[in-house]
Amino acid sequence: MNIKLPRGRFITVEGTEGVGKSSNIAFIQETLQKAGIEVVVTREPGGTPLGEEVRELLLDHRHTGMSSDAELLLMFAARAQHIEQVIQPALNQGQWVLCDRFTDATYAYQGGGRGISNERIATLESWVQGTLRPDITVLLDLPVEIGLARAGARGAADRFEKEQQTFFEQVRNAYLVQAQKSPQRYRIIDASRTLEAVQQKIARVLQLILEEHRG
Ligand code: TMP
Repeated sequence: MNIKLPRGRFITVEGTEGVGKSSNIAFIQETLQKAGIEVVVTREPGGTPLGEEVRELLLDHRHTGMSSDAELLLMFAARAQHIEQVIQPALNQGQWVLCDRFTDATYAYQGGGRGISNERIATLESWVQGTLRPDITVLLDLPVEIGLARAGARGAADRFEKEQQTFFEQVRNAYLVQAQKSPQRYRIIDASRTLEAVQQKIARVLQLILEEHRG
């Protein structure tokens, strides 16, 4: 018998450096699991053996001369593999996917940061993703200088972390513009508050998604 499972939900978490994505992703995972949801936690760039190798190329600070288009295409190459091997199969089986960054990061970093046009990115987005888009995107928003100070305390900077503050200001602005354009998908969380306050906000967001999911 062919039983069609309800598609899982696709949740992404975004933000500039040092906004607290890792601890909040762990919190979201734990909250969903407690609610009985099977959740696959993954990340971009990466999430597959091929994608993780592409990630190493992208983050390696020795590749200082990488062109913006090469960077953009590598992001989407890793993403194509990730969708085919991990994201789509999980969603098709009714599992939820919680992804640390997705294409919104491309609009923010390669678009806002590097200056590539949204149209160019949108072309690749529909080519690689078809109709696949996140259901909910949690944007952890924080003034850039606070985030960079937090991230700087973590050790050696990768190729992106070596960028100047103005680059990250453009990234943050691009995220906020996208959030304004898609208010039904985005949940903006003020990440300058305490971890406890941030998690209370996230818990409320998740509660609403779970209520909606259960109908
Ligand atoms: P992470 O630090 O969140 O693990 O992400 C690695 C870096 O990759 C981060 O600086 C943001 C960057 N990035 C892009 O520039 N474009 C993208 O599409 C993605 C997914 C990440």
